[in-house]
Amino acid sequence: SWTMPNYIDEAVKKIREQVGNDEVILGLSGGVDSSVAAALIHRAIGSQLTCVFVDHGLLRLNEGDMVMDMFARGLGVKVIRVDARDQFMGHLAGVTDPEAKRKIIGREFVEVFQAEAQKLPAAKWLAQGTIYPDVIESAGAKTKKAHAIKSHHNVGGLPETLNLQLLEPLRDLFKDEVRELGVALGLSHEMVYRHPFPGPGLGVRILGEVKAEYAELLQRADAIFIEELRNTVDEHSGKTWYDLTSQAFAVFLPVKSVGVMGDGRTYEWVVALRAVVTSDFMTAHWAELPYSLLGRVSNRIINEVRGLNRVVYDVSGKPPATIEWE
Ligand code: XMP
Repeated sequence: SWTMPNYIDEAVKKIREQVGNDEVILGLSGGVDSSVAAALIHRAIGSQLTCVFVDHGLLRLNEGDMVMDMFARGLGVKVIRVDARDQFMGHLAGVTDPEAKRKIIGREFVEVFQAEAQKLPAAKWLAQGTIYPDVIESAGAKTKKAHAIKSHHNVGGLPETLNLQLLEPLRDLFKDEVRELGVALGLSHEMVYRHPFPGPGLGVRILGEVKAEYAELLQRADAIFIEELRNTVDEHSGKTWYDLTSQAFAVFLPVKSVGVMGDGRTYEWVVALRAVVTSDFMTAHWAELPYSLLGRVSNRIINEVRGLNRVVYDVSGKPPATIEWE
């Protein structure tokens, strides 16, 4: 009969048969799919797996430390952390067009990953956290592309030029199954039930030109929002507002507005909060968060993040708006 422990045993056996004594590399993003793939492959082949984590400076607050804590220290996975912040910021300087920004981030990611892969000449396999819905999606990619509003970039899009064989142990699994597998492999509930995060990261949540200074303000505002969502329980359902929303984040608006603090005038940046409820991310409703929660988040952001003096809440559905602002 089908049980998760049996499934893990089977999957581990299959991975061992497939790769033998070869070395494997994997791009670890901190997202659910690549994390579960890393945990599973590590269970199968241990130190034959090397993960590459690229910090492009457009991740959530402390994301890099969290990934290193969980994988390197927690599970004993070999992880190479690449600090590519300056490289990404350099290429993004002066660029304001959303599609151009996405292309640059996607291209630089491949570049950095490739450079790291070349330092591991023994690697014969490229592992990816491709899941069943991704397989379906790329089968229909031709028709889909014609209708796509945004070009999507994520860690999955590495080129064939790496000359590696693909190892995709999650190819038959749906998202729910991937999450269950992650928990069974020892990943925390918090990590496995995270909201999705776009490949270009904060690059598409800082409107217009991306600057390190903006990214830092946004990371701090976003972390406060997420913390309050996680800590606030809805009394009707008994669930946290983090679990009641499908995706929630802050957006940096390159607009200054006037405020007052003490007996001084301020002239600082604005952030928008976005929280949506959706089953498929194709359409979405803005989340009816309690006013008390919104008020707490706003107060904390303005009091704790110097440089921000105004917070607004996005009440746009998809369609006509998209979930991300770029
Ligand atoms: P939109 O903004 O199109 O987003 O309503 C729908 C979902 O897709 C995510 N998204 C991305 N994910 N690379 C990704 O991996 C991307 O370039 C990208 N753009 C949007 C978005 O966060 C939402 O969950």
